[in-house]
Amino acid sequence: MKNFDPSALVEPDRVHRTVYTDPAIFDAEMERIWERTWVYCGHVSQVPRPGDYYAVTIGRQPMFMVRQPDGSVRVLHNRCPHRGVQLVGNLKGNTGSSIVCSYHAWSFHLDGSVRAIPLAQGYEGTRMTRDNPDCGVKPAARVDSYRGFVFASLAREGPSLMEFLGEARVAFDDMCDRSPVGEVEVVPICHRVIQHSNWKFFMENQLDALHPSVTHQSTGIAAGRVEKRLKAQQEKVPLYYHYLSAFASSFEQWNSVQTINFPHGHGILKAYMGLRPQDPDTLAHEALLKQAYGEQRAEEYLSRSIHHVLVYPYLSVQSPLQQLRCLRPISPDKTLSEIWHFRLKGVPEAIYRRSLWYYNLVNSPATMINADDLENWTKGQWGLQSKGGDWVSFHRYFGDDREEGGVTYSNHGTSEAVMRSQFRAWSAYMSAE
Ligand SMILES: [Fe+2]
Repeated sequence: MKNFDPSALVEPDRVHRTVYTDPAIFDAEMERIWERTWVYCGHVSQVPRPGDYYAVTIGRQPMFMVRQPDGSVRVLHNRCPHRGVQLVGNLKGNTGSSIVCSYHAWSFHLDGSVRAIPLAQGYEGTRMTRDNPDCGVKPAARVDSYRGFVFASLAREGPSLMEFLGEARVAFDDMCDRSPVGEVEVVPICHRVIQHSNWKFFMENQLDALHPSVTHQSTGIAAGRVEKRLKAQQEKVPLYYHYLSAFASSFEQWNSVQTINFPHGHGILKAYMGLRPQDPDTLAHEALLKQAYGEQRAEEYLSRSIHHVLVYPYLSVQSPLQQLRCLRPISPDKTLSEIWHFRLKGVPEAIYRRSLWYYNLVNSPATMINADDLENWTKGQWGLQSKGGDWVSFHRYFGDDREEGGVTYSNHGTSEAVMRSQFRAWSAYMSAE
């Protein structure tokens, strides 16, 4: 798509429905956003030993990240330079000491450079000889990581990873700083969910404080009733009832939860769940952090007001509960989401269990929370594919937010500042040459 002008589709307070449905716009998004910007590949602990690989799709490109003998992690195209066959066939595994193509046994060092071309004399005098760099597996143009989280960009030019993440890097700080050694490790299995909706539905929903008390009302109210009954019976109320009952907080409560909207579409929904109960497990965890970082820094780490951090256009990081959701768009109306969770290194098992409860209550196949969201997004996609209207409204509290240094602070938690900010970023990506 040449000379794409988003201004006909994106206005400051509304967007045209085709940005969610048009296959040509989807292709342009893949090319102009996903195949240019930094895309999250995974955590270093997914590939602990040399030769360990993990397949990842960047935009439309099948790639894999692979651990090197020197401990670094590289990201390569999953394609043999000989006849184009994919080199790793599974989602994850170990290549052994070299990567070998299953078709004609061309083999490559773990950095992608050619190791051996079988029966090499047949190529003598042609351009496909081992001194030609085209005989190696093509790497991602750039790879970088932040606190163990690996990103790749298919564009040689552009902002650095740090510039791209900007303030949103607090997602990884807030997660890792909750460990006394400053590190997390992945729990090596994730929930994979196909959303039958455009990827933008999910990104908008994550900071949409207007929806929980409606969409999640039935679950929230039911959990709240149990919570109350247990309290009345003087019983200990497990924190996981609170995870669910908080969804049914009053409208006024939701409206007081601020969103902070950064450049590049990133953003934060501030904390609304009390996650520092004074039980022995929490106190033991906090004591470990104070020991490691000192009273003041530990308190600073524990009191960051974060529920979610969004790294636009694909990550929702729930750092206080060590959970990360990542999108891989497939088509305008189909999006793969991968939901990972992490263990804080060096903390009591009970803290991990607590996060696991949240992970499963909100995101497992049996969840009552994500299931209700998925239904809305599917119905949203169907509505936008119809001829029942052309525009999607983001008018709520338009003109009411506070701007400061390129950052938009909502004065009301339910402001649609989030969507307006995301579409500013979208337009900038899409109109760039
Ligand atoms: Fe929701």
